[in-house]
Amino acid sequence: MFYPNDFHDIDLIPEPPTEEPARQYYYIALAGRKLEALGRDRNHPYRYFLETFGCQMNEKQSEVVAGILDEIGCVRTDSEEKADLALYNTCTVRENANLKVYGRLGRLQNMKKHQPDKRIVLFGCMMQEKEEAERIRTDYPFVNLVFGTHNNYKFAELFCRMMEEGRQVIDLQEKPDRIVEELPTERNYSFKAGVNIMFGCNNFCSYCIVPYVRGRERSREPEAILKEIRSLVEDGVTEVMLLGQNVNSYGKTLEHPVSFARLLSLVEEIEGLHRIRFMTSHPKDLSDELIDVMAKSHKICHHLHLPMQSGSSRLLKDMNRHYSKEDYLALVEKIRAAIPDISLTTDIMVGYPGETQEDFADTLDVVRQADFDTAFTFIYSRRSGTPAAGRPDQVPEELVKERFDSLLALVQEKGRAASSRFTHTVQEVLVETESKEEGILTGRTQYNLLVHFPGSKELLGKYVPVCLEECRGFYYLGRMAADCEGH
Ligand code: 5AD
Ligand code: SF4
Repeated sequence: MFYPNDFHDIDLIPEPPTEEPARQYYYIALAGRKLEALGRDRNHPYRYFLETFGCQMNEKQSEVVAGILDEIGCVRTDSEEKADLALYNTCTVRENANLKVYGRLGRLQNMKKHQPDKRIVLFGCMMQEKEEAERIRTDYPFVNLVFGTHNNYKFAELFCRMMEEGRQVIDLQEKPDRIVEELPTERNYSFKAGVNIMFGCNNFCSYCIVPYVRGRERSREPEAILKEIRSLVEDGVTEVMLLGQNVNSYGKTLEHPVSFARLLSLVEEIEGLHRIRFMTSHPKDLSDELIDVMAKSHKICHHLHLPMQSGSSRLLKDMNRHYSKEDYLALVEKIRAAIPDISLTTDIMVGYPGETQEDFADTLDVVRQADFDTAFTFIYSRRSGTPAAGRPDQVPEELVKERFDSLLALVQEKGRAASSRFTHTVQEVLVETESKEEGILTGRTQYNLLVHFPGSKELLGKYVPVCLEECRGFYYLGRMAADCEGH
């Protein structure tokens, strides 16, 4: 990567630098020395447990936190009990995510009775909500450090403060002020990586809390993105996933605007890169230029995640989505005409305020027509502060549950049928993991379908032609093409 190879070389005598990321490098060095001193008095290293809730953007921010912790000499553990430091990257998109965090806190309070030196850190989207942070301050004083999404880059500095100060540290920044590049980042796989291309969201869909906790849309400069991907490729990465809440509006706010389609063309030119993925696409911003670039590309996977949310034009208008049922179906048709083998996936919500049986029937109708490979289904969750939360016509829980069950049944039936179209074809699979069963590998086709097949673990990270023999709904059982009859 681009940061110093050895943080030990950083001179800690002068005041910390004020510019970023030099300031964080200083604190990484300082934290490393603090832990070294602490380690001398103990017979085991400082251990951390990190759990991430929510989406891939949160995963990315956790990778930075883990990268910094690894750099300062902490060791990751899967045991929440044994950890000296327990960190939780929180999500608030639906109420369930918040409830999970409070569940963890109940358990941690008990653990802390026996381990008073255990330190607890909460960060991410839920902490960015004023009421939640306030609740932690008043009701959960045993939490040591709280920070949000906009100051994630300051983790090393906040870690030092937490270690020095005996009291709870809460550091929240209301608005994002900068994009800090080049911080240490942990990577879960050596051959594939997620790359942020933008942060935040400007859409203000009426049900969604994301714009309030992740702020306005900011795009990274294309040069910074390309530099990061080139460096990942040098490190052995062959598949990248470009990440943003709404990648189709990438680049609009840059000083020199660049379209997402153009960015993809630039990424395509990187030698050694084999597969390009991206998410999430907003249907209203999906351009013909993008469809064209995808259709011509040799590297962009033929998979689009295109959240529809609802099939009712009336509700879509109320949700502030800027497309109708007909627009959505026309877009699906246009994409399929240009890229016939495209795999489409989506997000669908039921129980949005005012949803009638007729609105719901429209949702089912789109599912019947669009042939999604997978659809993620959600029950509408009332998020305080969003326009939809104040609506008096919330749908009764019983009715929502009923609709959810019938939607799920249809989605599964259609998904199974759509996914099975690859049966008895040979597909290129990127081998990602060896399953618990020795000698069985798990890989992914460009269509994002999982395939399990026998093979040796030397194939991890490699692209292998696999014959897809049996569709099991959302995954396949297969055999390496070389082992198949007729080859
Ligand atoms: N309730 C239920 N689902 C929601 N989503 C976003 N906000 C809410 C909410 N308040 C879903 C949308 C989005 C996905 C990431 O989460 O379907 O596409
Ligand atoms: Fe939320 Fe809509 Fe932005 Fe997606 S596009 S993050 S649903 S506001």
